[in-house]
Amino acid sequence: MAKTQFTPRAFSGIQPSGGLTLGNYLGAIKRFVEMQDAGSYETVYCMVDLHAITARLIDPAELRNNTRELCAGFIASGIDPEKSILINQSQVPEHAQLAWIFNCIARMGWMGRMTQWKDKSGKNAEAASLGLFAYPALMAADILIYHATHVPVGDDQKQHLELTRDIATKFNHDYGVDFFPITKPVIEGAATRVMNLQDGTRKMSKSDPSEKSRINMTDDADTIAKKIRKAKTDPDPLPDNVAGLTARPDARNLVNIYAGLADTPPQAVLDEHAGALFGHFKGALADLAVSKLAPISSEMSRLMQDTTEIDRILGRGAERAREITVPILEKTYDIIGMIRS
Ligand code: TYM
Repeated sequence: MAKTQFTPRAFSGIQPSGGLTLGNYLGAIKRFVEMQDAGSYETVYCMVDLHAITARLIDPAELRNNTRELCAGFIASGIDPEKSILINQSQVPEHAQLAWIFNCIARMGWMGRMTQWKDKSGKNAEAASLGLFAYPALMAADILIYHATHVPVGDDQKQHLELTRDIATKFNHDYGVDFFPITKPVIEGAATRVMNLQDGTRKMSKSDPSEKSRINMTDDADTIAKKIRKAKTDPDPLPDNVAGLTARPDARNLVNIYAGLADTPPQAVLDEHAGALFGHFKGALADLAVSKLAPISSEMSRLMQDTTEIDRILGRGAERAREITVPILEKTYDIIGMIRS
């Protein structure tokens, strides 16, 4: 069979489950902006509101607000809704329609092995929603409904992207087609896994009960600086090479955050700061973080003053998205044997 040539297209999504963190920014959004500006891909970025309701009931007004705030966060960080297609998942119904088909392709065993399912369902899997279990099939549909070839994400999404590849491979094999691309994860940069500021062995997460554990993209300059000053560290000075950070998770995390914000490799940060104590290094990091993040947070609040404009952008994004998704869904139905008339 001749190999299909797919248009280079990047897709990624973020859950509007409340509050964007520095982890989302360094692990994902920064890369979204770079891929958009590189000009070698079509780029589609998504607020995944259908995913956000899988873990808990979110108050409807809160979900709407989170979704608009996330949209503001994308734009304030540099996503240009003219250059990229910026959408809210539920406004492009083909995501959910393809997800149903993928529910019939993916195997229960595959889903049961997902570490995020195990972590999020915890000891009480019986009480978890069916949506939480099927979550990665919807994620595969998000990507493949655009025939996306590249997916920029943080390190924690690696396993879900492997599953996306498995679903595409099985669909293509079962129906004897070369229809869905085998997507490439793009997990790059110094901060693909930003850790908790109070515990460098755990991921920074918006769901952590401690505010001090993370930097939110809505934090003002003072709060950002305070959280960095209070971050957990050790009494030793910074080493002169990255190997010296191996057994120092809190120190390594701050160096990686610095590197991510400065767009430089961690070794370059150590070249500059080797021998420094944390009192000094945290001051430099706080200045850098405030200079990069405070303008984003103030632009987010400005954009949130006009939610009608945000809704207009999302409406327009959905129209543009559907020019891609409707024909791909139609063709998928046709391959499967569903009557189209
Ligand atoms: P979500 O909403 O948990 O996170 C959004 C993006 O931020 C990255 N990220 C991090 N990166 C580095 N360090 C951290 N501490 C950190 N925390 C979060 C995540 O890796 C992700 O890239 N399932 C996805 C959303 C999704 C999606 C998709 C992604 C739905 N459909 C299709 C890509 C393609 C999620 O829950 O991300």
